[in-house]
Amino acid sequence: MKTAISAPNSAWIKYWGNRNNGLRLPVADSFSMTLDSPTVEIDIDHSETLTVKSINSDGSERILKESEVGRFQITLDLAKKYLETLDVPEAIPASVALEIRSHIPAAVGLASSAAVFSCFARAIQGLIEETINLTDEQTSVIARLGSGSAARSASGGFIALRAGEGDEIGSSYGEQMADENHWVLHDFILVPSMEEKKVGSTKGHASAQSSPHFSQRVEDIMERRQKECIDAVLGKDFEKLQRVAEEDCDDMHRVMLTSNPPLDYLTDVTHRIVRDIKAFRDSEHLEVFYTMDAGPTVQLLCTEESKEKVAEFANNQEDCTIFTAKTGPGARLI
Ligand code: PMV
Repeated sequence: MKTAISAPNSAWIKYWGNRNNGLRLPVADSFSMTLDSPTVEIDIDHSETLTVKSINSDGSERILKESEVGRFQITLDLAKKYLETLDVPEAIPASVALEIRSHIPAAVGLASSAAVFSCFARAIQGLIEETINLTDEQTSVIARLGSGSAARSASGGFIALRAGEGDEIGSSYGEQMADENHWVLHDFILVPSMEEKKVGSTKGHASAQSSPHFSQRVEDIMERRQKECIDAVLGKDFEKLQRVAEEDCDDMHRVMLTSNPPLDYLTDVTHRIVRDIKAFRDSEHLEVFYTMDAGPTVQLLCTEESKEKVAEFANNQEDCTIFTAKTGPGARLI
């Protein structure tokens, strides 16, 4: 048996839209910082058939829906196909038994699938390591098959997901640009709503290309934004990072709003927080930026120097639940 641990990531150049939905091959590059919490642990062992047991943080068992178990089966089947392409048939497990222990509160508004599937991929890497030593990039391909953004939590620190080209399973993967010790940034996660999200990201990706702004978005990311974001992180240029990350977040939500059907994930509370943090940043000269994914949750990313003031701002948002995280080490065996 092997055990892996992982956590979500904070996306600064957002992944939205696939060139191949079944294989979760993205149209464009994306970029994120891996977080240190909240974590998910997975025990994995060989088994004749797939079994998945899920335990909540209070120790109670969470009964998984058929579709949730089905997603593990699909991911495992695709992972086997991918391992076939690596020419190591003896490394491919017949099936696996999983026990998942999630410390991610249901209401956190962070993609728990990124933590779960990066953890699953790392667990598989551990299970077969005596037959094949998968690299972090290869492990990230397996994570991607369960959830595109999970490919970016397979390693720690700052990760660029290369979109790649074509329909090869392994053609898109996460690459570490700098590890978690390069730059410690803090993430205040403000969750305004306890509601389950209406349209999941898997469905959302499928309608992304119906937006008239989609192709311009892809061009901007591939020609300029991804590089600007990487340069900003490598040069620890917070102002540049703030500019490009907020531009990309606003752009993704514009694509969502103008797609068919339109997807409006943001609420009045989200818009108020964004307005107020901009004003607070200007008046206090803070290093902080906002970002939102497929839901109303706002993440406020800041430097060590600005942390105290941003915490004060976050704690004043009385209609939100607050979680905190920082740069983390990515999926690993324990
Ligand atoms: O990995 P998925 O399929 O849940 O997609 C994630 C999409 C966003 O969170 C909106 C953006 C991102 O890059 O994480």
